[in-house]
Amino acid sequence: MNQQVAILGSTGSIGQSTLDVIARHPDKYQVKVLTANSNIETMLSQCIQFQPNKVVMADPQSAEKLKVELSQHQSRTLSEIIVTSGSNELANAVSDEQLDIVVAAIVGAAGLLPTLAAVEAGHRVLLANKEALVMSGEIFMQSVQRSGATLLPVDSEHNAIFQCLADTKEPLKVIDKILLTGSGGPFRALPIEQLEYVTPEQACAHPNWDMGKKISVDSATMMNKGLELIEASFMFQMPADKIQIVVHPQSIVHSMVSYVDGSVLAQMGNPDMRTPIAHCLAWPDRIDAGVESLDFYKLQNLTFDQPDYQRFPCLKLAEEALRIGGTAPCIINAANEIAVAAFLAGEIRFTGIAEVIRETLGQIEIIEPKSLDDVIKTNDYARQVASKQIENGTGNL
Ligand SMILES: NC(=O)c1ccc[n+]([C@@H]2O[C@H](COP(=O)([O-])OP(=O)(O)OC[C@H]3O[C@@H](n4cnc5c(N)ncnc54)[C@H](OP(=O)(O)O)[C@@H]3O)[C@@H](O)[C@H]2O)c1
Repeated sequence: MNQQVAILGSTGSIGQSTLDVIARHPDKYQVKVLTANSNIETMLSQCIQFQPNKVVMADPQSAEKLKVELSQHQSRTLSEIIVTSGSNELANAVSDEQLDIVVAAIVGAAGLLPTLAAVEAGHRVLLANKEALVMSGEIFMQSVQRSGATLLPVDSEHNAIFQCLADTKEPLKVIDKILLTGSGGPFRALPIEQLEYVTPEQACAHPNWDMGKKISVDSATMMNKGLELIEASFMFQMPADKIQIVVHPQSIVHSMVSYVDGSVLAQMGNPDMRTPIAHCLAWPDRIDAGVESLDFYKLQNLTFDQPDYQRFPCLKLAEEALRIGGTAPCIINAANEIAVAAFLAGEIRFTGIAEVIRETLGQIEIIEPKSLDDVIKTNDYARQVASKQIENGTGNL
């Protein structure tokens, strides 16, 4: 029987890659719900191709425009698609018990509530929206436990770790280290003094991966690796000192697990997000993802190195936040989102991103969040503090 799929953030890079994989397997998956913020053009073409039952646009005006577009189509199937809007509707749409799989691919904190709604509904949740887990940590993982949801990692590194863990029974006893690899982004070799002059276009031009703008900037600052460190710690219940970051510019080894007997298991493949997406969709089975296999005769040297903390202060800040615990990861995530948006808007320097995060983390009292409400309040407050920092000149050009 077909599995019924909802995609939160279907118009984004991960959303589109997911639909590419699904289109290869019409006998296995049926798209029921698609969501986006405001990209009507892409949503319309996805509606024509996949004919979902329901579409949610977070932005109400975009929902109205989409309704008009759909109603002008001859096909009855298209005009019957239910279109709703607003953030509550995102959560409602993925709570439907008829769904089997929810792909959580909204970018940033906006994905927290809908992703948690999918978890609470007990679905198989394919997590790309790492910010949701970074913000809410244990609260998120407790929700997974309570609801019986199956949480599968789409992030290529976490997917690699998941594959290398296989069915390891007592990870804390038998794992020496999780080796989280990262390419080092486009500025790995740029003279450090030039970092403050780099433009959003340069920061978004990742050498190996084609991704949304926010994660591309996060990769350039290596905050992405910092968020992934926190994500890995919660997802695999591993303390910070058991996770080591390894710079691997070729993005062929997607991460590794080193065991106490000296074995190191690695997951490898061409850098294409359709591989981890297909793995999560089909798990524990395997399906064709449309990705070329690695050709080991053609592979160039694979290199591995330590991260350069002077060049990538965001990575240090994320490590610090994980060690501090409580609301610290939520604070740095919020400050990073505000700082990255300001950098993309040409308001602050590339190097200003770390300055805004550092200042914001230093200004807010860290508590142990008892509820989701504590997380939401912290996120809102940290965003205000970070915005104020920028208004007052931190990181400015
Ligand atoms: N791209 C990758 O290769 C990759 C790899 C690993 C993990 N991830 C993670 O996956 C997530 C998505 O990344 P991406 O690169 O696919 O991002 P993206 O290309 O920017 O797409 C983001 C998606 O979220 C939607 N969205 C944005 N703001 C929203 C809001 N306020 N409410 C509801 N929906 C909203 C967008 O809709 P519109 O199109 O209408 O704006 C779009 O569908 C991120 O958490 C990222 O860290 C991505």
